[in-house]
Amino acid sequence: MTQASGTPDVPDLGRRQLLNILLLGAASGPVLGMLYPVVKYFIPPASGSAGGGVTAKDALGNDIVASEFLASHKTGDRVLAQGLKGDPTYITVEGSEAIASYGLNAICTHLGCVVPWNANENKFMCPCHGSQYNSEGKVVRGPAPLSLALAHAEVNDSGKISLTPWTETDFRTDEAPWWA
Ligand code: FES
Repeated sequence: MTQASGTPDVPDLGRRQLLNILLLGAASGPVLGMLYPVVKYFIPPASGSAGGGVTAKDALGNDIVASEFLASHKTGDRVLAQGLKGDPTYITVEGSEAIASYGLNAICTHLGCVVPWNANENKFMCPCHGSQYNSEGKVVRGPAPLSLALAHAEVNDSGKISLTPWTETDFRTDEAPWWA
């Protein structure tokens, strides 16, 4: 009785602890949120996505198995897959047992349409404003200002096609990669 009437505004120990916990939670949320990008920067990518790479996926979201892929396409085909950051990326079939060592980001460098491959013309031809890219994705006609972005493509140890960021010189232009 006397305690309750004498100290009405002083929380007892249980309430204090609860308040402390709530305050800590309220304060640490934003701090952890701010720290997350910093911490993430210093943590290497998880295995299986070394160097920021991904396994290429088909239209249904399934991993692309190289042997099945090669068996169902012919030499010279450019086949769309889901690549880095989910971007549509062309995988080039170079033979019955080989894919090209590069994938081509299919997003037009003009205003972002997905550029279809035209086998008859041996070019990628954008239907939106007429830009054209040669068979390696190098821009050969504007208004697109730049070539299609590259990614490294290879068959990984699991027999699947993997794509990793291309940070080296663009072999088509001998210039630094504009997308890196
Ligand atoms: Fe491809 Fe404009 S978006 S030419």
